[in-house]
Amino acid sequence: MLDTSVAATWIERWDRQQETFLTDREERFQVIADVVETVADRPDPLVVDLGCGPGSLSARVLDRVPGAEVVGVDADPLLLGLAAAAYGHRRGLRFVDADLRRPGWTDVLALTRRVDAVVSTTALHWLHEDELAATFRAVAGLLRPGGVFVDGDHFYDAATTRLAALSRVVGDGVARRAGVVSDDTAWSTWWRDAEADPHLAELVASRAARPLEHGDNTVDYADNLRLLTNAGFAESGTVWQHGADRVLVAAVA
Ligand SMILES: C[S@@+](CC[C@H](N)C(=O)[O-])C[C@H]1O[C@@H](n2cnc3c(N)ncnc32)[C@H](O)[C@@H]1O
Repeated sequence: MLDTSVAATWIERWDRQQETFLTDREERFQVIADVVETVADRPDPLVVDLGCGPGSLSARVLDRVPGAEVVGVDADPLLLGLAAAAYGHRRGLRFVDADLRRPGWTDVLALTRRVDAVVSTTALHWLHEDELAATFRAVAGLLRPGGVFVDGDHFYDAATTRLAALSRVVGDGVARRAGVVSDDTAWSTWWRDAEADPHLAELVASRAARPLEHGDNTVDYADNLRLLTNAGFAESGTVWQHGADRVLVAAVA
């Protein structure tokens, strides 16, 4: 088993790496936690985190709602290994290896009741439109009446390309003023360094045995709302936004 402090160091580096793409990443996490805390009508809500990676959002949600049970789902063995080593000892937090593109992925979550909130951040843009539609339907089926789906990601507006371009300029300005240095190599550098760390050799080998396609779908904001409606959500829209970076909430009746 990977040492907790080694895993924590790699997750810290992961968080810094992700922030080079997302200036307000921590604020986005807190907004998602605000929504979960608000809609939970019990001290021990059940929350599922889709594409949890090394568990950063899952841990923030549990920090905010300490009585919650948070189930992180991902299909990357290395990121799940880091999550389990860093956070696996925390009561209320567990991680499941499942591919959202495979029908039946909800069956392996071992959920004992309907879910209060499904959260996700910077993950679902990896899915193609048909996979995203199927995921939304699966999520709607997991939620209890009144439950919510909370998705933080970049959602571009294809109908207003000038505004989409302006959103990027505004986002770059906010990042610059916050002192965040944009670095297109941050992602590949993190992976290159992780793959070279002997502590992670076993996880690196597991990952190489089943690579995950890194998609970047072109499903725009309006199409996300349409897919959510088609999946059975009663209402959906943005509760927080910075440029194209939004927290989208969809609620079942
Ligand atoms: C950019 S990372 C974000 C991770 C984490 N949510 C965060 O914000 O730090 C995208 C995550 O989505 C996961 N992912 C992508 N496609 C997936 C799929 N089909 N099934 C499960 N996880 C998936 C990746 O493995 C990766 O951990």
